[in-house]
Amino acid sequence: MELDDISEIMPAASAAAVNGAAKKVFIKTYGCQMNVYDSQRMNDALAADGYAATETIDDADLVLLNTCHIREKAAEKVYSELGRLRQMKAERAEAGREMIVGVTGCVAQAEGREILRRAAAVDLVVGPQTYHRLPDVVRRARGGQKVVETEYSLEDKFEHLPQPRKSEVAKRGVTAFLTVQEGCDKFCTFCVVPYTRGSEVSRSVAQIVAEAERLAEAGVREVTLLGQNVNAWHGEGSDGKEWGLGRLLYRLAEIPGIARLRYTTSHPRDMDDELIAAHRDLRALMPYLHLPVQSGSDRILKAMNRRHTAADYLKLIERIRTARPDIAMSGDFIVGFPGETDADFEATMEIVRATNYASAYTFKYSPRPGTPGADMDGHVDEKVKDARLQRLQALITQQQHAFADSLVGQTISTLIEKPGREPGQIVGRSPWLQPVIVDEKAGEIGDIINVRITKTGTNSLFAETA
Ligand code: 5AD
Ligand code: SF4
Repeated sequence: MELDDISEIMPAASAAAVNGAAKKVFIKTYGCQMNVYDSQRMNDALAADGYAATETIDDADLVLLNTCHIREKAAEKVYSELGRLRQMKAERAEAGREMIVGVTGCVAQAEGREILRRAAAVDLVVGPQTYHRLPDVVRRARGGQKVVETEYSLEDKFEHLPQPRKSEVAKRGVTAFLTVQEGCDKFCTFCVVPYTRGSEVSRSVAQIVAEAERLAEAGVREVTLLGQNVNAWHGEGSDGKEWGLGRLLYRLAEIPGIARLRYTTSHPRDMDDELIAAHRDLRALMPYLHLPVQSGSDRILKAMNRRHTAADYLKLIERIRTARPDIAMSGDFIVGFPGETDADFEATMEIVRATNYASAYTFKYSPRPGTPGADMDGHVDEKVKDARLQRLQALITQQQHAFADSLVGQTISTLIEKPGREPGQIVGRSPWLQPVIVDEKAGEIGDIINVRITKTGTNSLFAETA
């Protein structure tokens, strides 16, 4: 354990109430969907200790920044936010009101105690593997200690975190995330995740099924399975055999109420036959796959330690499309990895043309301390990165619009999620994650209805009942 000083832990009963009023926690979430899920679980853990979640920072007695370390910009945002919080904390102190500030997530894991040195406002730093200890850490921080908990604990945090509360799940809506796997053993040379999230750990089938059932009972219709390397998930099934993600999806599709399943993020090397077969067989598995390739150049893929070629990727997509012809693809791309030449970049443009994405995320390479890429020769000039990013983005935007346009006139299934911005409208979600705007009479929240697409908006689709 990496604690500043060990002293008496305050009893739980006194921890969460001041003058009888419930304490409030505000969590600001940065980065990926796993952080969104983690923030919810932290809220649940703190609720068990008497903390009510608030969306208003001014009301909060406890402010947590759940941070992302994936690129430099993401990490820098945290420090500027901590600067603002320092000011706020000082104003609060003058008014005689306490405010505890904590940093969780991947910056917490990567920088640990350094955060206390750089940001005076911070009282506690907790890494992703120790969220189950958060209530205890908060109690200690309230007792005046500075607490750092970034150890990879041997205990299973999911065994110790309270189950998501049904009332909270219902408030969060009809779609939900569910972490099935954490960490990564792939060690791509650009990526900080193996260092911040640790090595691959899969949750048990029993835990995952129980959580999915609970979500379904609370009204959730669509579950997205999360993992840094989600298709590396494996576990012992109810039949005593070793299951992969494909087999798990067959099992989850049996849960009454769960009508839609997704998973993210996958690595091309872990797309096995059973997972591809699940795409063929399961109507609940949405025909939309996020399968990052990062680059189209074999030379760069090798330097990135992706351990596959551009041709391997294209062959894989062909197999997936044979299994599920209506599948749409999404991906991630990095431009300007060290050593990337114009020709390498053209190969990336080429793989994008060959794949034809429904959407994709593009990033400029950002050297991360401690990763092999950061120490490589041939760092690419920012201006060159900018120009490449622009060209790639333009191509992807064009494909994205073409995909949306191809849906006009078609009848598609839509999960109704929430009221629209305009009166009389409701917003649903297409199988490809696009918002679908339709007349509110079309159905109730949680319904899955067929609608006919009439036109496209900037990032959404307009539809009428089919
Ligand atoms: N620089 C830029 N982009 C990165 N990604 C991961 N690490 C870096 C980095 N150092 C991108 C990858 C990954 C996505 C989540 O973020 O494309 O798939
Ligand atoms: Fe950011 Fe990656 Fe950590 Fe998610 S796992 S918070 S994307 S660094």
